[in-house]
Amino acid sequence: NSKINIAIDGPAGAGKSTVARMVAGKLGYVYVDTGAMYRAVTLRMLELGIPPENEDKVLQVARDMVIELKPGEEGQKVLLDGKDVTEQIRSTGINANVSRYAQIEGLRALMVSLQRQMALRKGVVMDGRDIGTTVLPTAEVKVFMTAAVEERARRRFQEMKDPESTSLEQLTRDIAERDRLDAEREVSPLRQASDAVLLDTTRMTISEVSEAIVSLCEAYG
Ligand code: C5P
Repeated sequence: NSKINIAIDGPAGAGKSTVARMVAGKLGYVYVDTGAMYRAVTLRMLELGIPPENEDKVLQVARDMVIELKPGEEGQKVLLDGKDVTEQIRSTGINANVSRYAQIEGLRALMVSLQRQMALRKGVVMDGRDIGTTVLPTAEVKVFMTAAVEERARRRFQEMKDPESTSLEQLTRDIAERDRLDAEREVSPLRQASDAVLLDTTRMTISEVSEAIVSLCEAYG
C-alpha cells in the first residue's frame, strides 16, 4: 500500500485548503498549503516595506526566512521564524498584495524547491496554483477545483478573521482581480494541468468534494 502525492490547484476560495486538509486526514497524509508560504513571504515584505518591484531585496530576505507549516488544533499553523502568523496572513492587506510577490520568478523557484522537498517521501496533499503543472508534475492524482466567483467570495467571507474590514461585494472584486493576476502572470500561471481532473464545486458540499478525491486516490492505488 504505497503512498502517492495529490496535487490540488484552483482559484482563490474554491475550497482547496478545507478539502485538502480533509483528504489528508482521511488518508493519514500530510497537508501542505503552499498559498500560506507566499502569504508568509508577503507579510515579511510588508513589515519591512520592501515592494515587489525590488526583486533582489525580496529574494535576499526570503532566502533567510524560515517558514514552517505545522498541524495545529484547527487546521494548519504557519510559523515565520518561529512566530505564529496563522491569523495575520489571512488579512485583507495580505490578500491584496500576495499575488504581486508571487509573480517574482526567483521567489517562485525558491518556494518550489522547498515544496518539492516536502513531497519527496510521498503521502502529501499539496494545494496551490501550480502544483500539478510545475511543483509536482508527476503527482499520481491531480485535481483542478473551481467554483463560480460569487460562491468563492461567499466562502472566503465566511472564513475571514476580520470580516468587518470588507464587504462581500468588495471581496468578490478582490478575488476576481487576484485570479486575473494569478492566471495572467508569466511564470507558472494558474492553469489546469492536462492530466488533472476538473471539479466544479459550486453546488457540491465539502464532504462530497473530499469523497470524490479520496475515490480518485483509491482508484489509483
Ligand atoms: O491559496 P491562497 O489563496 O492562500 O494563495 C494566496 C496567493 O498565493 C495566490 O493568490 C497566489 O498569488 C499565490 N500562490 C501561488 N502559487 C501557489 C500558491 C499560492 O502563486 N502554489
